[in-house]
Amino acid sequence: MSTSSSVTLIMHYLIPLILLCFIKLVYATNFYRDFHILWGNDRGTILNNGKVLMLSLDEHSGSGFQAHKEYIFSRIDVQIKLISGNSAGTVTAFYLGSEGDKRDEIDIEFLGNLTGDPYTLHTNMYTKGKGSREQQFHLWFDPTSSFHTYTIIWNPFMIVIYVDGRPIRVFRNFESIGVPYMKEVPMKAYATLWNGDQWATRGGMIKTNWTDAPFRAWFRNFKSKGCVWWNGETDCSLGRSKTLKHDWYKQKELDLSSQKMLKWVQRNYMIYNYCNDFNRFPNGLPLECYR
Ligand SMILES: *[C@@H]1O[C@H](CO)[C@@H](O)[C@H](O)[C@H]1NC(C)=O
Ligand SMILES: *[C@@H]1O[C@H](CO)[C@@H](O)[C@H](O)[C@H]1NC(C)=O
Repeated sequence: MSTSSSVTLIMHYLIPLILLCFIKLVYATNFYRDFHILWGNDRGTILNNGKVLMLSLDEHSGSGFQAHKEYIFSRIDVQIKLISGNSAGTVTAFYLGSEGDKRDEIDIEFLGNLTGDPYTLHTNMYTKGKGSREQQFHLWFDPTSSFHTYTIIWNPFMIVIYVDGRPIRVFRNFESIGVPYMKEVPMKAYATLWNGDQWATRGGMIKTNWTDAPFRAWFRNFKSKGCVWWNGETDCSLGRSKTLKHDWYKQKELDLSSQKMLKWVQRNYMIYNYCNDFNRFPNGLPLECYR
């Protein structure tokens, strides 16, 4: 082999290959390494060498997993494929939550439906144990036929929930007007599947049909990064985290095209917004709704 062709070989194949392996090492999901079973025994299982997490629900129990790593401010991505067919009454959840009482939480919950009826993507934001900040959406695709990507960006200025890269909800840091923000206690990721037929489908009118059990939902490509919590501090608060330089962390506003997408989703797919629910808050809407 001539020198020039081996240089070409190295440049074109080996270096990219090495880079690719390196990237894979850093980012590859490994549910064995990153998660542990919370409840449901073997109803939740890890498959494909740690690449896929499957949750199931039957008449006796659902199942849940919890991530090990805790962050204050993070970016979490995961791909989910939901229960197909009649999933009425079931709730598949992917959320960030803190421990103890007065929990902080950033919730994404998929409320199942009868075959052919749309899933509802239910979101909520808890600060210091107080929620009641629901927004609900239908989706512009069938979330049961393939995997779709769901992302939570939680930075000091805002929380943004994305579906396949489109922002669907923004919750801003309104501490300046007295609304508590999630930033004091660390949160970690959870994936759970449970029976919510008291309320989930058409407000609880449609119950889970156990003939079709067990129900199954799949998770893959979980990625998390952010300010890692350790012993009462994070590497960001100590000023020595790469996270401080990341765009998702520094971003204070959505860019223009994202703002357009958000409007499009909210105009066409939002089915409930607590900020429009005057009957529910007779003494006035929550403060952040006036902004
Ligand atoms: C189920 O389908 C009905 C009818 O299309 C719809 O109104 C509802 O939002 C859907 N989702 C749930 C969780 O009930
Ligand atoms: C439950 O599902 C089974 C099989 O799909 C069906 O035959 C039955 O009628 C369903 N039950 C109810 C209450 O809808």
